[in-house]
Amino acid sequence: MTLRQKLSQLTQLDSSFFLKYGTSELTGPLHGMNIKEEDVACCGSVLGAIGADVTREIQEKHLAADPLKIPVLFMLDVIHGFRTIFPINLGLACAWEPETARQAAEISAKEAAASGIHVSFAPMEDLVRDPRWGRVMESTGEDPYLNSLYSAAFVKGFQGNDLREPDRVAACIKHIAGYGAAEAGRDYNTTEIGLNTLFEFYMPAYRAAVDAGAAMAMASFNALNGVPSTANRWLLNDILRKKWGFKGTVISDWGAVEKLRMHGVAKDRKEAAYKALNAGIDIEMMTSDYLQFGEELVREGKINEAEIDAAVLRVLDLKDRLGLFEDPYRSASADNEKLLLLCEEHRKAACEAAAKSMVLLENNGILPLKKGMRVALIGPFAEGKDILGGWGCTGRFDETVSVYDAVKASGYFSEVTAAYGAGFDGADDAELEKAVKTAENSDVAVLLIGEHQDMSGEAASRTDISLPAAQKKLFDKIVKTGKPVITVIFSGRPLLLSETAERSEALIQAWFPGTEGGRAVADLITGKTEPQGRLTMSFPRNMGQIPLYYNAFSTGRPVTGENPAERYLSKYIDSPNTPLYPFGYGLSYSHTEISGVSCEVSGDKATVTAEVKNTGERETTETVQIYIRDMYASVVRPVKQLKAFKKVRLMPGESEKIIFELGRESFSFYKEDGDLHFEGGR
Ligand code: GLC
Repeated sequence: MTLRQKLSQLTQLDSSFFLKYGTSELTGPLHGMNIKEEDVACCGSVLGAIGADVTREIQEKHLAADPLKIPVLFMLDVIHGFRTIFPINLGLACAWEPETARQAAEISAKEAAASGIHVSFAPMEDLVRDPRWGRVMESTGEDPYLNSLYSAAFVKGFQGNDLREPDRVAACIKHIAGYGAAEAGRDYNTTEIGLNTLFEFYMPAYRAAVDAGAAMAMASFNALNGVPSTANRWLLNDILRKKWGFKGTVISDWGAVEKLRMHGVAKDRKEAAYKALNAGIDIEMMTSDYLQFGEELVREGKINEAEIDAAVLRVLDLKDRLGLFEDPYRSASADNEKLLLLCEEHRKAACEAAAKSMVLLENNGILPLKKGMRVALIGPFAEGKDILGGWGCTGRFDETVSVYDAVKASGYFSEVTAAYGAGFDGADDAELEKAVKTAENSDVAVLLIGEHQDMSGEAASRTDISLPAAQKKLFDKIVKTGKPVITVIFSGRPLLLSETAERSEALIQAWFPGTEGGRAVADLITGKTEPQGRLTMSFPRNMGQIPLYYNAFSTGRPVTGENPAERYLSKYIDSPNTPLYPFGYGLSYSHTEISGVSCEVSGDKATVTAEVKNTGERETTETVQIYIRDMYASVVRPVKQLKAFKKVRLMPGESEKIIFELGRESFSFYKEDGDLHFEGGR
């Protein structure tokens, strides 16, 4: 390979560069990036090509044009589904079932591979503490232990045991590192993270993906403690490769090499290319600084060609692990797409995952609803099908089951009516009136409200995470009818729900539940399924508490309840410290009791036993959670840390004894050297 061909192999372009292959239009999108036709012919990977016919056409043309006959990689954001869309990851996490996440990833991989995708830019495992940040919807929440289990499960689901299996795709752990700590919850903003906190909270889930064999890693947009991750050799080389032993490929985020100039750490594109190459970025996504300046940098001795060779080798190794040199088309075929995309088995899995992801926050006993009632479904999500959430990949609204469709089809109610009521930026009086009338002519009003899916996700930070004003107005009018109100929230983040909670007979957090989300809501409110979700991100009472998370440090003046009147404590004068709903919280339609808890310590292990009993009238699924507190250590420690959990399904009156074995790792913690330390003690 010539040096320029190597640099092409390290360049990722979007599919528009390829679809007009060999036509004069090629100079269209290219002129700005000053890329020649032969560069495209040797380009290493394509972003955003979708469909077996499209990817096969590009691959065929590419292999014909590439003198080196190196197959091109197809990459895409398959975050929570490809065509069959699962709940957003913050919802999937609430199932407290990594196995469900693995299945979701496995199904997503099958569908994506059938359409020619080789690599998914997932899992996103940025730990989050700030619901102003729109990308909390892609994360699995505020706890490093639970995030790590999910991270490994997603990787296993996408990759299986052998990437040569044609229905698997390579996983890409992102965004390294600490992107979720964006100051003020503003996307792409600065992150300042002390090394203890970085290694104890933000890094474990990335490392879990590496240990699970993730084939790729993506550097994050943000500056981490003054150095953008894209130019951060300590992060990508010393930690990711040397300390964690990552052997895979590192890709920049979209245009992030070029953005080093905006960060102000590269005076021009040539220095941007130098810093990214030197930091260990193998593939440059959607800019062409490597191509433009790589040869010069090598000629000037600034970059050693051996480093470029190493990067190219990692890209070729990924292609080899995927079996592309033997079969550049793998399972990409229109027949496979017809067989797999949105098949009944996948829809069923998506429905089950959606039901497990929803969290019952309040219930005065009205749920599950009685058979034969007249139910009014009100709000934009009553008949709305835009419940896929951000990163909905190739999911289609017209293939989504709405709540109205599912409730009607259930045949459970004597009458089912629906009214839109209000949207997201403004309420129409006639619509509001119609909604009020619909509610008045029913026995119970189910309000299906929240955020539009474009109000969360990338570049969708909010300074106020309240319900949109129009929805508050609708809520107010429906509550004033005096009919019992059940509120179902669709959102990509925790919203401020204090008032909604107070004035609703029941409250369900549905997230964006995906293709079968409407059916999952119907199954819950009719009692066909039991609510079993538990939150993995705290719901604040107000904006002022943010960032708010359960595994915080004590401070020197903690509020412990012993001296509530005392002024000089770490608290507010206008709000409690506690969240509206804490991490780990969720109700079911029954009640459980936990008793007989004991903890035997021997050496550096602890065996915890507990008895959990279903004391209610209905079957239930309880998630028993074990937390520890390290009372005294060389650095401050969280007042509470999740270290184990187990879901148990219990029939009425049934009880089960659960035994947890906590090993040395459960009582160890990371310090600023990035290593685990065990200090013992109480
Ligand atoms: C976006 C996102 C990243 C995604 C990439 C490719 O900007 O930050 O998560 O994988 O670009 O779409």
